[in-house]
Amino acid sequence: MKQGLVLDKVVLLGRTLDEYRRYFTLDLEGLRGRKILDVASGVSSFCAEARRAGLRVTAFDAIYELPADEIERRCATDLDHVTDAIRDLKTYRWDFYQSPENLRKFREQAYRGFLADYCAQGKACYVPGLLPKLPFRDGEFDLTLVSYLLFVYEDQLDYEFHKRSLLEIMRVTCGEARVYPIVTFEAKRSSYLDRLRSDRELQHLAFEEVRTDFEFLLNSNFYLRVSRR
Ligand SMILES: C[S@@+](CC[C@H](N)C(=O)[O-])C[C@H]1O[C@@H](n2cnc3c(N)ncnc32)[C@H](O)[C@@H]1O
Repeated sequence: MKQGLVLDKVVLLGRTLDEYRRYFTLDLEGLRGRKILDVASGVSSFCAEARRAGLRVTAFDAIYELPADEIERRCATDLDHVTDAIRDLKTYRWDFYQSPENLRKFREQAYRGFLADYCAQGKACYVPGLLPKLPFRDGEFDLTLVSYLLFVYEDQLDYEFHKRSLLEIMRVTCGEARVYPIVTFEAKRSSYLDRLRSDRELQHLAFEEVRTDFEFLLNSNFYLRVSRR
């Protein structure tokens, strides 16, 4: 029997700039003038809020083919399901969010912020597509972020998908990529991390697990920094 949140698909939930800043330990001032890519950005308001704060962010996700009302419908369903499902799980720490109701407020704030910006900006900022391919030039971005897609869905996305996705992310990134979290929904360190490190096709990349002080899903107080050796 599995511990933790059990999902049969990748859900459509979004986080805010404040949450991204905490778990990726982003120095927002230091990122001024840098080009940032948020891969699998979904209904996160990171792109909208960061752009308002003067940062240059592009968001990429499979759902950006869809109209706003369809995204909103799917996201509202997933939010109801997940808020309910995690209520009594032992795999979460509530120090930051305090309660499922408060967590829901963060998620609603994120998707409403996203939807308003998505309607205003369209494809100029929200680029549709499917990993493991990215429709960007080599080295186009200084920093690429991936939040809540890789590692955490280890039971649905296989090793080859992770490897191809990371190679593609590093193709379009001239600086570094950060991936969060690096545990599964069972709060266990992903088994793919050691495989990536020892993979002969990835020896040109360095993988560093960086500790942070943000932990909601248990043991999720680390992100993965990927850079070139
Ligand atoms: C849990 S959401 C994370 C959203 C956002 N990064 C955050 O942390 O708030 C996962 C996102 O991954 C997207 N996704 C799933 N598979 C994908 C793929 N192969 N290529 C691009 N996006 C994908 C989904 O559409 C969804 O928006």
